[in-house]
Amino acid sequence: MINARIVGTGSYAPKKVVTNQDLEKLLDTSDEWITERTGIKQRHIADKNEATSDLAFEAAQRALKAANLSAQELDMIIVATTTPDMYMPNCGCILQNKLGAKNAAAFDIYAACSGFIYGLSIASSYIKSDTCKTILLVGAEILSRVTDWEDRTTCVLFGDGAGAVVLQRQTGKQVRRGVLSTHLRSDGALGNLLSLPGGGSLHPASHDTIAKRMHFIKMKGNETFKAAVRALEEVAQEALDYNKLKHEDLDFLIPHQANLRIIQAMAQRLKMPMEKVVLTLPKYGNTSAASIPMALDEAVWDGRIKDNHLLLLEAFGGGLTWGSALVRW
Ligand code: ACO
Repeated sequence: MINARIVGTGSYAPKKVVTNQDLEKLLDTSDEWITERTGIKQRHIADKNEATSDLAFEAAQRALKAANLSAQELDMIIVATTTPDMYMPNCGCILQNKLGAKNAAAFDIYAACSGFIYGLSIASSYIKSDTCKTILLVGAEILSRVTDWEDRTTCVLFGDGAGAVVLQRQTGKQVRRGVLSTHLRSDGALGNLLSLPGGGSLHPASHDTIAKRMHFIKMKGNETFKAAVRALEEVAQEALDYNKLKHEDLDFLIPHQANLRIIQAMAQRLKMPMEKVVLTLPKYGNTSAASIPMALDEAVWDGRIKDNHLLLLEAFGGGLTWGSALVRW
């Protein structure tokens, strides 16, 4: 039997911090509204010279160092992002070059905020099928570049950052440690709830797409909120049932960080006190595909997550896409 174990984590947030009070000066909003409705207090915003691959590079280097591995030992690099540096070359290849990971295949996956869970599913499958030994998975985003700073219903939500994990083949006595299972779902019929319509083959960049602000994220927040709670509850339960485990077996919930009320609803349904939930939303906002690996890294480094802990990871995002993963640390 082969398992895929996370042997190193790393994360990176750009230096610049924008607080809710800063946004009060730009928009018709308030710290009170943002805090009450979302739980967000501030977000990090990338410098104009930074690209998504730069954030990914910082997080990846930290994860490789933690794993005590060199970039040449990587067989594969997967970058989960909705904001690649450009469409071609993909962000994975740009990162592969920056790291000097000469032996790695590299590609991106676009599954919005669920990208890290989708990536974890792909990476663990490649390892469990004995096709790869060592894989770097990064969630990295510069959402501030596709955020409409004139739209108060979305711009208060998003932030920039990157989180990375190195997964490695695990056999022998420790084989029970690693990614126990992943559970992925999608519903394209609800794709219009959360979209970034401009710049693709349907609406290539033009004066018209710019005038209509089509290169920015659009979200029907309230409908997305309701769909998220329903979907996450189902997929979390599926992960537990599949592994014949109960919610009381869980040591930590590491959710996608979109909205504190969604996270609290999930914790309540899983009967988990908030001390068992890793929360980075107040300081980073919603960093989409980066939010789970950033939260995981924080809880690993501050010592909350210990050997053999059982972790439930779950995410929901554009597509719509959603998913969960159970990990034995
Ligand atoms: N400041 C002040 N008022 C605001 C702001 C703001 N920034 N934004 C909206 N409002 C107002 C609205 O105009 C509305 O006013 P009205 O009642 O006079 O019309 C009122 O606040 C309520 O607006 P709602 O949209 O109903 O607010 P809601 O409580 O639903 O909160 C939010 C909005 C935070 C977006 C929430 O719906 C949410 O978090 N949704 C889910 C997000 C999510 O999980 N997305 C998936 C992942 S993201 C990804 O994949 C990239």
